[in-house]
Amino acid sequence: MSNAEKQTSVDSILYTRGKLQILDQLLLPEMTKYIEIKDVNEGWSAINKMQIRGAPAIGVVASLSLATELHQKNFQTPDELVSWVLERMNYLVTARPTAVNISDSAIKFKQFCTTYLDQKLGAEDMKLRIIEAAEEMLRKDVEDNKSIGRHGSAHMLQNIGDKPLRILTHCNTGSLATAGYGTALGVIRALFEQNKIDHVYCTETRPYNQGSRLTAYELVHDKMPATLVCDSMAAFLIKKKGVSAIILGADRIVANGDVANKIGTYQLAICAKYHEIPFYVAAPSTSIDLNLQTGDEIKIEERPHNEMFTVKGQRIAAEGIGCWNPAFDVTPHELVTGGIVTEFGVFSPSELKDKLQKCLSKGKQ
Ligand code: MRU
Repeated sequence: MSNAEKQTSVDSILYTRGKLQILDQLLLPEMTKYIEIKDVNEGWSAINKMQIRGAPAIGVVASLSLATELHQKNFQTPDELVSWVLERMNYLVTARPTAVNISDSAIKFKQFCTTYLDQKLGAEDMKLRIIEAAEEMLRKDVEDNKSIGRHGSAHMLQNIGDKPLRILTHCNTGSLATAGYGTALGVIRALFEQNKIDHVYCTETRPYNQGSRLTAYELVHDKMPATLVCDSMAAFLIKKKGVSAIILGADRIVANGDVANKIGTYQLAICAKYHEIPFYVAAPSTSIDLNLQTGDEIKIEERPHNEMFTVKGQRIAAEGIGCWNPAFDVTPHELVTGGIVTEFGVFSPSELKDKLQKCLSKGKQ
C-alpha cells in the first residue's frame, strides 16, 4: 500500500475542470484511495456500485461526470449538445432510484438547456455554461451543508437545552456523503465546533456498514468523543445513556414530510417517540421532492443479496436462507418530531412544503 493510500481524508470528491476523482468508499476504512471518473459511464458505475454514495454526493458526482465528459467533446449545433446532455442525465438517474438528488440535477440541466436555447447561445458557449452549472452544484452543496449545520445546531440548543448533547446518528451523512461538511453530521460538526457535543453514538448501519466504516472514520478523523453501537442496541442505548436527540439524513423527503432514508431509520424514529426525545432529519433542498405527495410513492431500492450474506467476500449467513435487502425505509412524517433541517431553516413536516416553496422562489428572484 502506498503512503497516499494510508493517509486519511474525508473529501469524497476532488475536482478541477476536466478531472474528477472520488474517494473509493468500498475500500474505506482500510484504504484511502481516489479513483478517476472520466465520463458518464464511469460515473454511473461508481454510483451504482456505491464507490460513491450518499444522496447529495451522488447528485454532484453525476453532474460532474457529465461536465468532465462534456469538457472533451465538441458539438456542431446547440440542439445536438442539448439532446446529448438530456440523454446522459436520463441515464445517470437510473444508477440508483431512491435518492432524488440525481433527478434534481437532471431537472436543473433541462431547465438550463431550455433557457440557453431561448437565449440562442452557440454550442461552445452552451457547453461552458453547463460545465459551470455542474461546478456550481459542487460549491453550493458545501455552502448548503454549512447552513444546515448552523440552523440545526441553533435549533437543538434552543429546544433541547444549552448544555453539551448526546447525539445518536445513523448511516453516513458526513463529508463522505456530500460535497463536504455533511448534513446531519454537519449539524453534529457545528455542535462540536461550539463545544456542545458531550458524545456521539453512531450505528453500524447494516448491511453495508456506512456507520462503522464511514461515520466512525469521520468522527475519529475529527477527534470527536464517539462510540459505535450495533443497530439493534438503539432502544437500550437511549434508555441507558440518556441520548438527547437523534439526527440523520434523507434520500428523499416528500411533500407531506415523509422521509426515505437508510434502512433502520424508521425503527429509530419509533424508539425516539417512545423515549420522548426529538427526532431530526437534515437534508438540503436537493433531497426534497415536492412532486410526490406521500412516502408510499417513493421507489425503494433493493440491493443484491450478497451485500447482506457476505462480509468482505466471506459468507456469514446459512446457505439456503432467503433474503430481503431494501436499502431504505420510509419514516412517517408524524415521527419527525424535532424538525426537518434544511439550508433555509428548520421546518416541521406540516409546514415544509409551503415554506420550502417560498424560500426556493425567493432564491430565483
Ligand atoms: O445507500 P447510501 O449509503 O447511499 O445511503 C445513504 C443514506 O441513506 C444517507 O442517510 C442519505 O443519503 C443522506 S447523506 C447526506
